[in-house]
Amino acid sequence: MTKTLHDSVFVRACRGLPVPHPPVWFMRQAGRSLPEYRKIREGVGMLESCGRPDLVTEITLQPVRRHGVDAAILFSDIVVPLAAAGVDLDIVAGTGPVVASPIRTAADVAGLRHLEPGAVGYVDEAIRMLLPELGAVPLIGFAGAPFTLASYLIEGGPSRTYLKTKAMMYGDPDLWNTLCSRLADITLAFLRVQVNAGVSAIQLFDSWAGALSEADYRRFVQPHSARVLRGLEDAGIPRIHFGVGTAVLLGAMGEAGADVVGVDWRTPLDRATTMIGPDRAVQGNLDPAILFAPWEVVEREARRVVAEGRAAPGHVFNLGHGVMPETDPEVLTRVVELVHGLR
Ligand code: CP3
Repeated sequence: MTKTLHDSVFVRACRGLPVPHPPVWFMRQAGRSLPEYRKIREGVGMLESCGRPDLVTEITLQPVRRHGVDAAILFSDIVVPLAAAGVDLDIVAGTGPVVASPIRTAADVAGLRHLEPGAVGYVDEAIRMLLPELGAVPLIGFAGAPFTLASYLIEGGPSRTYLKTKAMMYGDPDLWNTLCSRLADITLAFLRVQVNAGVSAIQLFDSWAGALSEADYRRFVQPHSARVLRGLEDAGIPRIHFGVGTAVLLGAMGEAGADVVGVDWRTPLDRATTMIGPDRAVQGNLDPAILFAPWEVVEREARRVVAEGRAAPGHVFNLGHGVMPETDPEVLTRVVELVHGLR
């Protein structure tokens, strides 16, 4: 890694080092809120676009050019490595990932193949194309955590209740652990490709872990996520761990081996810091819905987030979850400018 990237405001904040202002990026900054994204995606399926290094490069760069964010995030999806490992799935616009044959039995789990790095060669290629274009702007790689991936594979698509997922978790813990262990292998292999290609940080998305109690999270989920996060310790780059509705899980998610814990808008960052402890940075946590309020409200709330973030050893400004497609991109640019002016 070059000196510039190691010294970037984003990486320094992840490490709890002094920064001139909080770094800013937005989850789902590349996506439907941008007209240039909608244009380039016209007639190209989501999975197909993730497999084309030229499109990945352009889409990843779009929010960097437009908003001046302090980090780029690779344009891809958490189900890309599953598709590359042979799972028959699609990403349906407005719905999310849909799996043709959900995984529910021991035979289904046994049929889940490992991810050969060569099967995601296009990710390696895209990152190598991106790095010179990004210059001093760090690139974040990412993957889905075993619980969130398992929930899509078992439910067959998005879920509100995670009934079938929990049925396997509680009803057949051995099968659950076998599945999550395979998913941890796939996730590790996918992240390793991104690390080897030169990303400056990784984010492990356990978006739906908030469906669990702390005890169940620690028992059924944390060991698998910990294997992924600790497996990347040797890379020497910041590891961010994020989920939605995780107020009671923040401590446990940090202990899984994260350098930075992502926090949604429900938990103020100062309170989150008490739960996470003094040796990890935080990321977040403006409510994405606040971007639809009058600017005075956006400004007041963004200032509050920055003030509360000062309680942590390091703070990366972000939303509490992804940018909603209907967001006015000009508001995002204004938020970046505002936060860059705050110390
Ligand atoms: O800018 C970025 O943040 C990078 C790109 C990114 C995408 N997906 C692109 C995408 C990232 C980091 C993801 C991760 C992802 N995918 C997560 C974890 C983050 C989170 O939101 O909690 C999850 C749960 C998924 C699964 C998934 N894929 C969902 C729920 C959806 C949305 C469905 C919809 O259409 O509303 C997708 C599709 C998807 N992934 C889109 C994008 C830009 C929208 C598809 C499109 O533009 O056609």
